[in-house]
Amino acid sequence: MNPKDLEDRYELPVYPRRDVVLVRGKGARLYDDQGREYIDCASNVGVSNIGHGNEEVAKAIYEQYLTLGNCYGMFYNPVRARLAEKLVSLSPPKLKRVFFCNSGTEAVEGALKFARASTGKGEIIAAMRGFHGKTFGALAATWGEEYQKPFMPMMPGLKHVPFNNFQKLAEAVSGETAAIILELVQGEGGVRVGDKACFQQVRELCDQRGILLILDEVQTGFGRTGTLFACEQFVEPDLLCVAKSLAGGIPMGAVLCSDAVKVPMKSHTSTFGGNPLACAAALATLEIIERENLPERARTLGEYFMGELRAIRSEKIREVRGLGLMVGIELKEKAGPYVQHLMEKGVIVLLAGATVIRLLPPLVITREEIDRVLAAIKEVLT
Ligand SMILES: Cc1ncc(COP(=O)(O)O)c(C=O)c1O
Repeated sequence: MNPKDLEDRYELPVYPRRDVVLVRGKGARLYDDQGREYIDCASNVGVSNIGHGNEEVAKAIYEQYLTLGNCYGMFYNPVRARLAEKLVSLSPPKLKRVFFCNSGTEAVEGALKFARASTGKGEIIAAMRGFHGKTFGALAATWGEEYQKPFMPMMPGLKHVPFNNFQKLAEAVSGETAAIILELVQGEGGVRVGDKACFQQVRELCDQRGILLILDEVQTGFGRTGTLFACEQFVEPDLLCVAKSLAGGIPMGAVLCSDAVKVPMKSHTSTFGGNPLACAAALATLEIIERENLPERARTLGEYFMGELRAIRSEKIREVRGLGLMVGIELKEKAGPYVQHLMEKGVIVLLAGATVIRLLPPLVITREEIDRVLAAIKEVLT
């Protein structure tokens, strides 16, 4: 049986599938089982910032597996130690410690638990259209009936307020508020860039009321928006959730924490969290991001990309928006058919809501590849 039939038959059908079998990737290119080439503008939903098939990361993983692949957190390990130091040194100054986990939703899960434990309070405020993952804590913070309804009841204590509206957020705060969790650029919610002034007001409110600010940079982290972390362009958090591209495609998440975060011994741990294999992959990935100056590359290529997209004269486009190489094209109609047309033209893109085409190319994408993507977009939208 071919892979499509096998997966359809044996896996739970929770992913809306596209009719393609991807087998290989290199840089910003993907290849299917028919040998067809695609330019990747999805990066596995923001995972492959350094591109596919990086040999330095492959070598780091191979060598680490032969040395020591797993090492539970009750034992010290030099690779994890180096990564902890490195991540803290790259983070905003206030963030002094890290907790390692295995995915974005786990990073959010950890941050929510740390916020409750540190403040002794139970309420969390999140934003409408926000996306934070699908395990129970993160799911309660994620916006949308589509995701929550089948799994009711949700974890109590969550309130949602409109994104980018300080007044409404301030009204939702109470004496029981432990934390506010926000994305700086809402990804799944439609590539919506938050307002710096609003985030700074939120920061002040948090400081005045003893509330912890959690920023979810699972999608915006590691160069995507033009700086290593998007928060460098907006506001400093008390907790920073990262995952996706951290370890170059190996599953890994992390929560970076300020001194305000205090958690009892044994209260939150993970078997695989901080395993040396993922840590070695992350160290190699961070070295590549720094050496190749990928955040700056994302900034300049993103400006070029969005400039050219805005120049496309199409009745179908409502707005082009984004930050760095996190780009959204909002259409005046459903975007699904165009996502399919683009795939037929050899460009893989994502949706973000019903009407937004989301583009998250690997940050190593070349200008020539972007020009090919632009030509395909122009062709399908005009
Ligand atoms: C902002 C944000 N937070 C959390 C998550 C959840 O990450 P994961 O799918 O690794 O659990 C995502 C995934 O898309 C995300 O974009």
